[in-house]
Amino acid sequence: MGNYSHLFSTFQLGSLRLPNRSVLSPMTRTSAEPSGLANERMARYYARFAKGGFGLIITEGLYPDAISSQSYKNQPGLANEAQAESWIPVIRAVQGAGGKIVAQLMHAGALVQHDGFTPIAPSAVKPLGTMLEDHGGSGEFAVPRAMSIEEIRSVIESFAQAAFRAKKVGFDGVEVHAANGYLLDQFITDYTNLRTDEYGGSTERRVRIIVEVLRAIRAAVGPDFMVGVRISQGKVNDFHHKWAGGEMDARIIFEHLATAAPDYIHKAFAPAFAEGGPTLAKLAKQYSGLPVIANGKLGQPDKAESLLENDHADLVAIGTSALVNPDWVNKVRVGRALLPFDHHFLLPIATLKEEEVGV
Ligand SMILES: Cc1cc2nc3c(=O)[nH]c(=O)nc-3n(C[C@H](O)[C@H](O)[C@H](O)COP(=O)(O)O)c2cc1C
Repeated sequence: MGNYSHLFSTFQLGSLRLPNRSVLSPMTRTSAEPSGLANERMARYYARFAKGGFGLIITEGLYPDAISSQSYKNQPGLANEAQAESWIPVIRAVQGAGGKIVAQLMHAGALVQHDGFTPIAPSAVKPLGTMLEDHGGSGEFAVPRAMSIEEIRSVIESFAQAAFRAKKVGFDGVEVHAANGYLLDQFITDYTNLRTDEYGGSTERRVRIIVEVLRAIRAAVGPDFMVGVRISQGKVNDFHHKWAGGEMDARIIFEHLATAAPDYIHKAFAPAFAEGGPTLAKLAKQYSGLPVIANGKLGQPDKAESLLENDHADLVAIGTSALVNPDWVNKVRVGRALLPFDHHFLLPIATLKEEEVGV
């Protein structure tokens, strides 16, 4: 057993004093009510991670508006007061167990897997790949409709309003999901953003909407509420995508994000462009000067500890390993063996399992 002095050191992240460096990674579990309300099973599920030692918990992606942002059936939302208030028992359960909880705000863009509306996106480009079976989809995605400038403005406003609702009901912060192929990442990505206006073209213009979302949220929630942003190159429907401009794109993206002064950047921990080269987490730290949460296959504590020790990131987000070890932090602290994660755990779809919510 290692000593893990970095993993178990405290950290000030924005307005939050965290007891250790482990964060629960956001994971969509499509277990809300059909109307997008959080429920009691979800309160029990999220509380387990706080009881298990996670100082910070990031929720699954919540859709910010009722018009076009929902990706999955039974995904929870923050699109109205009732949805926001349905999180109060979850927030109380987590905070009552000593944890902090941040709401992840996620707009689907083109990656919509339920009937109900024509998806919107930067451009009318059909997404690569097929719908996610883990989240109940099958077959190809629909071709989205290109957003008008008015729609872009109203989506920015809907992020700000959802963040305001999150603050009002007692969340400890919000994280803007600009990763993994969803709407905001579709703007960054060259092949899904063919716009010729101020939101398309150069990398600076493709990242602009995210900067505007962060600024609108800050204006709505004030200076003391934590606001983070998640960025990635890979996507749920295109795992191996890399930014065409390489490290120069990384520099432009992270420097621009920093101008909106988010409290942190949440990034995948993998070599950014070449095997053995700097990680994107490290580049995010270098070019933004902001605290960085690294994520991706960090369930082995030795790996997480060495990444913190080598200053690649300030915090580590644990995803799948935490699903089978909700007490990951407490186990690592006392040197207890961790259960291995197996994808079968999420079959047939990634909804909450009985053992995750108790009886
Ligand atoms: C079932 C499942 C759902 C996920 N949903 C989200 C999500 O809503 N938002 C997000 O940013 N990432 C999501 N992810 C990605 C995870 O946060 C994490 O980045 C990924 O699992 C890799 O980390 P790991 O190796 O520790 O599991 C999801 C992953 C899984 C397995």
